[in-house]
Amino acid sequence: MIHFGIIARNFSSTAAVQSAIKNVTVIGGGLMGSGIAQVAAQAGQNVTLVDVNNDVLTKAQKSITNNLGRVAKKIYKDNPQEGEKFVAGALSKIKTNTDPVAAVKETDLVVEAIVENMKVKHDLFKKLDEAAPSHTIFASNTSSLSINEIGSVVKRKDKFGGLHFFNPVPVMRLLEVIRGADTSEETYSAMMQWGKSVGKTCVTCKDTPGFVVNRLLVPYIAEAIRLYERGDASARDIDIAMKLGAGYPMGPLELADYVGLDTNKFILDGWHAKYPNEPLFNPIPVLNKLVAEGKLGVKTGEGFYKYDKK
Ligand code: CAA
Ligand code: NAD
Repeated sequence: MIHFGIIARNFSSTAAVQSAIKNVTVIGGGLMGSGIAQVAAQAGQNVTLVDVNNDVLTKAQKSITNNLGRVAKKIYKDNPQEGEKFVAGALSKIKTNTDPVAAVKETDLVVEAIVENMKVKHDLFKKLDEAAPSHTIFASNTSSLSINEIGSVVKRKDKFGGLHFFNPVPVMRLLEVIRGADTSEETYSAMMQWGKSVGKTCVTCKDTPGFVVNRLLVPYIAEAIRLYERGDASARDIDIAMKLGAGYPMGPLELADYVGLDTNKFILDGWHAKYPNEPLFNPIPVLNKLVAEGKLGVKTGEGFYKYDKK
């Protein structure tokens, strides 16, 4: 039987597996980008973390420092000095930049983790394709969009794929590696090898909506929100039920807040537009209302629940 706690709490301080990729640019310094930058830096790679918003980069540096501290506490519990060295070493590997084009000039791998919007991703990748060296691999961390469609705007289609991480990145051990229609064998192998080098267990999925995890998880979260909206049970009771009755580490509404209600809405809206006959993807009024009110979950201090502002 799978024990969720054990799966979630397994860190590695150094990469057991080496990758030819030494210089990584992570674009988007939010929830996911900051975690991806952290695990690559922990593996000894040179990382440039990019966001158009400088305040986001300041916040990301703070959260990476905190989260490295949590990892260090775990690995070096009997040797705090080594722990401090580990944190300082990983932090020294991370640079920041607000200009995506300048940041990809000497990189081996770009991992894009910006907003879940096809047009915004297209605009970014078009620019990057002109600026990055020809050997650079491009990957998207998209939760729900088609890798083939995102990659359709670049010339290097053989060097384009999906690297889908899970939140919180330093803790969750899975990486979904997505091979697009034109992704070369060489690129696919390099992505798999890089995933292992940052301590993840890699699985492969075709370029299908939500890949494996989100195709199952997003409809589950959506159904939980509908249950709440109908008034069948309170948010608290739905979450308690799934934690104690099904063994999940978080209830579905807690998880929705943790992922970000905006991200949940982007995913559902995108799928609803593409598959209007699938009732599981129908819009959910209460989710739309919370997002319209700026209640995006943990990151804004309120969603289905209230949180201390960070
Ligand atoms: N960085 C480093 N360490 C972290 C961390 C972070 N960001 N967050 C938590 N931890 C560590 C803590 O330090 C703690 O370590 P110890 O056991 O040594 O104390 C451990 O992880 C557990 O953390 P907490 O005690 O704070 O809280 P918890 O026991 O409730 O676990 C959790 C937190 C790991 C997030 C757990 O609740 C969990 O696994 N939740 C489910 C997460 C999940 O399903 N993620 C996938 C979302 S879907 C997705 O990501 C895909 C998409 O496209 C939307
Ligand atoms: P987020 O809102 O926390 O961060 C996105 C960041 O991208 C913001 O800081 C924004 O300023 C920045 N940004 C937007 N446009 C940009 C551009 N053109 N150039 C540089 N930076 C830009 O979002 P997130 O939750 O980190 O999600 C990012 C991506 O990862 C999305 O595609 C999402 O679907 C996917 N994802 C999210 C989760 C999750 O649990 N939240 C899990 C896996 C994958």
